[in-house]
Amino acid sequence: MKVRAAAVAVWVAVGLGGAVLDANAEGDAKRGKVLAYTCHGCHGVPDYKNAFPNYSVPKLGGQNAQYLLTALNGYANGDRPHPTMHSQAAVLSDQERADIAAYLQANVAQPNKEVVGTPPPATQACVSCHGTDGAKTIGPEYPILAGQYPDYIVHALQDYKSGKRKNPIMAGIVAGVDAKDFEAIAEFFGRQRGLCTTDELRKHDKCIRDRE
Ligand code: HEC
Ligand code: HEC
Repeated sequence: MKVRAAAVAVWVAVGLGGAVLDANAEGDAKRGKVLAYTCHGCHGVPDYKNAFPNYSVPKLGGQNAQYLLTALNGYANGDRPHPTMHSQAAVLSDQERADIAAYLQANVAQPNKEVVGTPPPATQACVSCHGTDGAKTIGPEYPILAGQYPDYIVHALQDYKSGKRKNPIMAGIVAGVDAKDFEAIAEFFGRQRGLCTTDELRKHDKCIRDRE
């Protein structure tokens, strides 16, 4: 699967007002598969935890490639402070990031046929961008939340709220959400079908979405 970084640059510039990426890189999923070898040690292990604070290492399988690039750039330039991910991302060239993102995206996420459970009212503030099921995002620069570990979602929301993660859109959104609602929101999106660990990707080259 090819992902064009030229399109990424436009999405990022228009959608997020962020830094413009190298417009020439084109992601090669085959090369990305080889490069992603070092990522499995953390992202491939189901329920593997980040220590201090303790939360699950996020699922990357099936995530939107454009969003993955934004996240990797954020770790590299410090918009997302995380020492381990900084050292992982900083050594990758723009081309390598694009290759890895193309591999991880694997197959563009399909919307769920139906939503599992009743969405808590607070999710009304989220669905306009992340989709009613957290899987069908309105654009490839928005992360899929469906199937993500709930404790990781809560952690990310806390980091946007405290300003540790710098993103003007999410900062504005979480400012209007009561932190007491984070858990219910995260549980709901985490239950939907969507993302998988890189281990599943390594075995099947895609997320097996119709497993029970
Ligand atoms: C030592 C463990 C470790 C390794 C190895 C590692 N990561 Fe991570 N990664 C993490 C943790 C922990 C986070 C969550 C950081 C945070 O809270 O922002 C993360 C977050 C991410 C995110 C953000 C996901 C999202 O949903 O926003 C991406 C993308 C990512 N890693 C890609 C990679 C890639 C690509 C590699 C291999 C080149 C890699 N990681 C290697 C631990 C690791
Ligand atoms: C106007 C569009 C928009 C709305 C509405 C919105 N988001 Fe986001 N969200 C984004 C964007 C853009 C990002 C990527 C930010 C970044 O690069 O860190 C994001 C990132 C996230 C992340 C980080 C995902 C990850 O893998 O690290 C979480 C969690 C999240 N949003 C949850 C929510 C929740 C919960 C709501 C509702 C309360 C919400 N969002 C509403 C646009 C939006």
